[in-house]
Amino acid sequence: MVSSFLRCIVFSCSIIFSRLSLAFTPCPLLGPVFPEFALDTNSEVLGSALDDLTEAFDTLVKDGNGSHGDVHPNTTSFSLSLFSTNQGDAADTPFLFKYHYTAPSLKSSPNAAHDVDKDSIYRIGGLTKVFTVWSILIETGDRIWNEPVTKYVPELAKAAKCLDAKQDPVSYVNWEDVTIGQLASHLAGIAREYGVGDLSEQTDHLEYGLPPLSASEVPGCNLDSLCGRAAEFFSHFSQQPPVALPGTTPIYSNAEFQILGYAIESITGKSFESVLQDHILGPLGMEKTSLSTPANSSSAVIPVDEETSGWSTQYGGEAPAISMFSSITDLSIAGKAILASTLLSQSQTNRWLKPTIHTSNPANSIGYPWVIYSGGNYPNTSMVDVYTALSDVGLYSSYIGLVPDFNVGFTILAADSVSSPDLNAHADIIADMALPALMKIAVLQADASFGGVYASSRLNSTITVSADSLPGLFIDTFISNGTDFRQVLATFNGIDEADALRLFFKTEMSLLIMERGTCVSWMDIDSFKYDGASLDQFIFELDKNGNALSVEIPALRVELERGD
Ligand SMILES: *[C@@H]1O[C@H](CO)[C@@H](O)[C@H](O)[C@H]1NC(C)=O
Ligand SMILES: *[C@@H]1O[C@H](CO)[C@@H](O)[C@H](O)[C@H]1NC(C)=O
Ligand SMILES: *[C@@H]1O[C@H](CO)[C@@H](O)[C@H](O)[C@H]1NC(C)=O
Ligand SMILES: *[C@@H]1O[C@H](CO)[C@@H](O)[C@H](O)[C@H]1NC(C)=O
Ligand SMILES: *[C@@H]1O[C@H](CO)[C@@H](O)[C@H](O)[C@H]1NC(C)=O
Ligand SMILES: *[C@@H]1O[C@H](CO)[C@@H](O)[C@H](O)[C@H]1NC(C)=O
Repeated sequence: MVSSFLRCIVFSCSIIFSRLSLAFTPCPLLGPVFPEFALDTNSEVLGSALDDLTEAFDTLVKDGNGSHGDVHPNTTSFSLSLFSTNQGDAADTPFLFKYHYTAPSLKSSPNAAHDVDKDSIYRIGGLTKVFTVWSILIETGDRIWNEPVTKYVPELAKAAKCLDAKQDPVSYVNWEDVTIGQLASHLAGIAREYGVGDLSEQTDHLEYGLPPLSASEVPGCNLDSLCGRAAEFFSHFSQQPPVALPGTTPIYSNAEFQILGYAIESITGKSFESVLQDHILGPLGMEKTSLSTPANSSSAVIPVDEETSGWSTQYGGEAPAISMFSSITDLSIAGKAILASTLLSQSQTNRWLKPTIHTSNPANSIGYPWVIYSGGNYPNTSMVDVYTALSDVGLYSSYIGLVPDFNVGFTILAADSVSSPDLNAHADIIADMALPALMKIAVLQADASFGGVYASSRLNSTITVSADSLPGLFIDTFISNGTDFRQVLATFNGIDEADALRLFFKTEMSLLIMERGTCVSWMDIDSFKYDGASLDQFIFELDKNGNALSVEIPALRVELERGD
């Protein structure tokens, strides 16, 4: 029986059809395909997946090779974690899984007498960009994404007046056309950076066949002599030619985030470092995280000496692009805060975790400042988008990935005594082993929470649903007041096979129509209305544990109660 005080959560669902009579291909709407699930680390499926993951990393560091390529256990130390904001014990701690490996070279390094652990501090370099964007979203929200950078950075407003960018778009950036949102999503098309890493810094550039430079031609600033804001950086950088026109194609650039850092300082009247501290690090209690090199290096992972490792490098104005230090514990806390919208509104987070543009690789898109990998085995399974940031600076590599559809994420931090390590082998192992387990858990819980017979007490109306291995719930039977309503819906939609009918969750999963290999369910949904109510809308009422009690079908004006 349904008692009203238990009706605390409402899900809106839709049904989706397949018009292909040969092979049914579920083609859900973009987004989660199952309702939220609970994760308990001692559950059978998750527990054994985590054991397998430990075993896979044990093998990887023992053999130096794995299913996704070679690694260098003699020189690479790393720490990694998986985290979750789902209900269940997995969310009680910063992370639900960790793995650490200390390379022999680090053990013998004079700077690191300890094994790496959950509080070890690595340089996270380019992951800083996520925190820079996050700071802006907390300070102003994304309303400034479409505003020109010249509104917030006076040096560029001045440059826009002086430079003849409209006459000479090859030599000059038209700064009035560059928006804050483009800077935050690698879309401004501006130069990568100025000074830092310029080959003229290397003494042997003549031996490489590069032409000689007079002293005045060598960039005015570099890592040894950092640019100040106005005098050096902008006077030089505003003269740099564009790489592409703004808004046309993704171009990786650290300077974009340097300029965003200056914009944040103009908006707040505070240093970027204190904005970062006040908006994110302080509120989340990320005590092992800092913008510049920590004074206390007792938890530091320094594979060689501080300078060679890139531990002590100061980036000056480029810090908002590349400077930060953190641990897997703190990054797990940060990742969970993003997934759970702790510091932003849910609607802002929904807009943040979306792509802005494609790349030339169909599996990769770009966001603010995410590199988004589209996983999943389309069209057999739904797409699973992983929002990542990755970096290598000095001898450090770092990776963070968020999977909003599953409310989980991972982070991998590494340091190597020879060169910054490739972390793809590690990330691919996590994806291979964790995602299938999560999908399995989602299916099992969807079946337990929603599967079964729902019936009316006053009409001959029933619906029977169950979860199988495909996205969504399979509709076994659907009778409305004595009429086979599966067949009615199939006829309305012009399909032969009434069993190509599945129930999907609009907020967590959805239903799509498959037409000759093209997923266009988003165009077909909500097409058939009866007295204003959609024939594909189903509203489940859940108890406080997330178990369905009943389903309301507004178009049929019935509420069906779930049997035992
Ligand atoms: C790793 O190398 C060992 C020894 O060469 C080999 O037996 C094993 O099959 C390799 N593993 C993978 C996953 O390539
Ligand atoms: C790693 O170190 C071991 C022990 O010193 C050595 O035998 C092995 O050759 C090294 N492997 C590589 C790839 O350098
Ligand atoms: C550095 O941090 C460690 C670990 O948190 C602590 O034990 C030590 O006292 C700190 N050292 C200084 C000089 O603050
Ligand atoms: C989808 O599944 C079918 C049947 O199992 C298989 O033949 C096909 O190769 C799969 N498609 C992809 C893209 O994996
Ligand atoms: C159910 O079907 C009966 C018989 O066709 C019809 O008289 C009645 O109006 C229907 N009731 C509803 C609520 O659909
Ligand atoms: C309900 O309707 C179905 C489909 O028309 C029919 O097979 C079934 O016998 C009916 N049940 C009752 C109890 O009338």
